[in-house]
Amino acid sequence: MSQKDRYAVFGDPIQHSKSPRIHALFAEQTGQAIDYQARRVPAESFQTATGQFFAEGGLGLNCTVPLKELAWQYAAQKTERAERAKAVNTLALQADGTVLGDNTDGCGLVSDLIGNHGIALTGINILILGAGGAARGIIAPLQNQAPATIVIANRTADKAVALAEQFQLDGKVTGCGFGDLQGRQFGLILNATSASLSGQLPPLPPSLLVEQGCCYDLAYSNSPTPFVRWGWANGASKSLDGLGMLVEQAAEAFFIWRGVRPDTHPVIAMLAAERAENYSSISD
Ligand code: ATR
Repeated sequence: MSQKDRYAVFGDPIQHSKSPRIHALFAEQTGQAIDYQARRVPAESFQTATGQFFAEGGLGLNCTVPLKELAWQYAAQKTERAERAKAVNTLALQADGTVLGDNTDGCGLVSDLIGNHGIALTGINILILGAGGAARGIIAPLQNQAPATIVIANRTADKAVALAEQFQLDGKVTGCGFGDLQGRQFGLILNATSASLSGQLPPLPPSLLVEQGCCYDLAYSNSPTPFVRWGWANGASKSLDGLGMLVEQAAEAFFIWRGVRPDTHPVIAMLAAERAENYSSISD
């Protein structure tokens, strides 16, 4: 039987998750003895599977699609950023036996944008595509960087307007439909829709980016997403997917669990190099 401290990621689907690999690399790098497994857990089994995991000595969980809202409900205590996001991607067993819920997605995104790619957020106009859970999780961490404005655009415009209203107190956040974007320009466009997962792209007008503007898809894939390709085709100085965000949010979770902050750079470099061949073989 393993003597290592146990962690896991729950989600559905989960078979392509890179999280076990990322945490194994962090553990090796920092000399921490942990066992981190991926497990397919559909929403209806979440409560039971999570209760069992902690009852059997598990110390921490990551939760991904479609479990983040359920994990938010499950956590006895929540960090402020998890409360704001109304979603939890990291559960941690506390010394008193209760389970703390945190959300490391937004700070993972900001770390990747600023720290890894040198994209300054202060004073720029940011466009977020999508108004679901992924969008909600990143708004407050972006607001903390003091952009000039944040516009949320969604297929269902009402949802974008309602989401913007929840964050209005903290800054200049507005919501609209894709059709309202005509003639507007942004320094950074973030794709937080789930369209990439089905190989689709929201309908975007051309000239949406300022010169030297950047595109970032919160989804990651072994081949360029339709939105990353849109960025290339529409003059983005950088058009990135969410691989770096994935590693950064994992590093923050690792820190919550182990109190040790791994160096993300060699891990991102390794994962990026592994798929570079894939990229070059399919791009023209
Ligand atoms: P998540 O938690 O990943 O954000 P979600 O809460 O189901 O998932 O939200 C999915 C988001 O992607 C929504 O903003 C959705 O738009 P609607 O609110 O109009 O449904 C958006 N979305 C999904 N497929 C899309 C597509 N093909 N084109 C544009 N937007 C899409």
